[in-house]
Amino acid sequence: MTSEQIDFLFNKFKNIAFNDSEILDKYGRDETEDLLFPPQIVLKPSTTEEVSAILKYCNDNKIPVTPSGARTGLSGGALPIHGGVALSMEKMNKIIKIDENNSQVITEPGVITQVLQEAVREKGLFYPPDPASKGSCFIGGNIAENSGGPKAVKYGVTADYVLNLEVVLPNGEVIWTGANVLKNATGYNLTQLIVGSEGTLGVVTKIVLRLISHPTENMLMLVPFYEARKACEAVAAIMKTGITPSGMEFMERDAIRWTIDNIPTIQMEIDENHEAHLLIEVDGFDENKLIEDCEKIANILEQFETGDVLFADSQAQKDKLWEVRRKVGEAVKTHSIYKEEDTVVPRFELANLLAGVKKIGDKYGFKSVCYGHAGDGNLHVNILKGDLTDDQWNNELPKAIREIFSLTVKLGGTISGEHGIGLVQKSYMDIPFSAMSLRLMKEIKQIFDPNNIMNPGKILE
Ligand code: LAC
Ligand code: ZN
Repeated sequence: MTSEQIDFLFNKFKNIAFNDSEILDKYGRDETEDLLFPPQIVLKPSTTEEVSAILKYCNDNKIPVTPSGARTGLSGGALPIHGGVALSMEKMNKIIKIDENNSQVITEPGVITQVLQEAVREKGLFYPPDPASKGSCFIGGNIAENSGGPKAVKYGVTADYVLNLEVVLPNGEVIWTGANVLKNATGYNLTQLIVGSEGTLGVVTKIVLRLISHPTENMLMLVPFYEARKACEAVAAIMKTGITPSGMEFMERDAIRWTIDNIPTIQMEIDENHEAHLLIEVDGFDENKLIEDCEKIANILEQFETGDVLFADSQAQKDKLWEVRRKVGEAVKTHSIYKEEDTVVPRFELANLLAGVKKIGDKYGFKSVCYGHAGDGNLHVNILKGDLTDDQWNNELPKAIREIFSLTVKLGGTISGEHGIGLVQKSYMDIPFSAMSLRLMKEIKQIFDPNNIMNPGKILE
């Protein structure tokens, strides 16, 4: 973008344009490693019309536009790698309407996910997807990345709740993708095409979500396993009983231990002999039924050699255990330079994936800390830099990551369950997809965005 164009944008969008270097740096980062790609200008629209005017100008002048939410992403989706405009959605932060009769909510994209959840909760309604960053991430970002989180095992991911989207296309035109209905057999599903498209096709400015009744009861247990493999196997065994827990989270020993060390208010001892833990939650409306479910789960667990199961006996204890689980990513990050891979396989293959990751680690000389959403077969593999040289880290590690991803695909899985492809995984897209599938994706991108202004350089090479 030329300095004339920056001046033009400044004049045209006077009160919503920013470019002092601190702000540019802020919008040049997300939570992905320590990457920094500052935009040349940050624009903070508060209406669909403003978004439309910005995109129209940028499209006419071929200026890159990177939509920006709360920048909690883990694949670099919000990094303005080609400079240009960072289009922050933070001012579009109104919940437009909670429709209790139809159990739906219409919202702008800049609402924090947890704020949305609490607002609908007041009406007895439930929006389940709860990424670890729910206290800071935006619902618009969740749609861009198709976020998941612990509750996905029972309730599904973001995509499962999105009914309809208002989208500003790169040329400034505004469309609605669907209808505010639960059934829709009307043509190609543009709504679901936009979900997970990481801001590469257009800018989401209004969102219609379906909601469900909020469960009134839940129970939570933390289960230590002597062997990580057994923890993985227990997951499938529990699901086979017909009980679907509302959370089934896996943490390797270092993941839970580093997190506890990292939170001064939490005192818990993690036994050296316990290779992994499962955090298992059940929820519903009938306490007796949940007690029954927990008993059944405890019976199943006996076959998998566990240590003493901790049942949370108060809300405070539940909150603490969930805090530990939510902060694993942060703890790993403070512990070491790392790269995070968001592997996902059919749940029964989880043990094989974990064993394979360790074997690849031995071959390339890296240590990994793994945790994630075991009920979904979704394993976050954190590769630690440790003693690797910069050369090994930069040149050998991509080969190891290729091996990990090839293994996930061989096991019937794919290379991202919930963090997206963004910048850092795009060079691996040939592993899950054939040349023809990639070509279809490129042509879809071309149809929506012929000038390649929308978040260029993401998802596809
Ligand atoms: C989590 C994020 C990293 O599960 O997806 O904590
Ligand atoms: Zn996760």
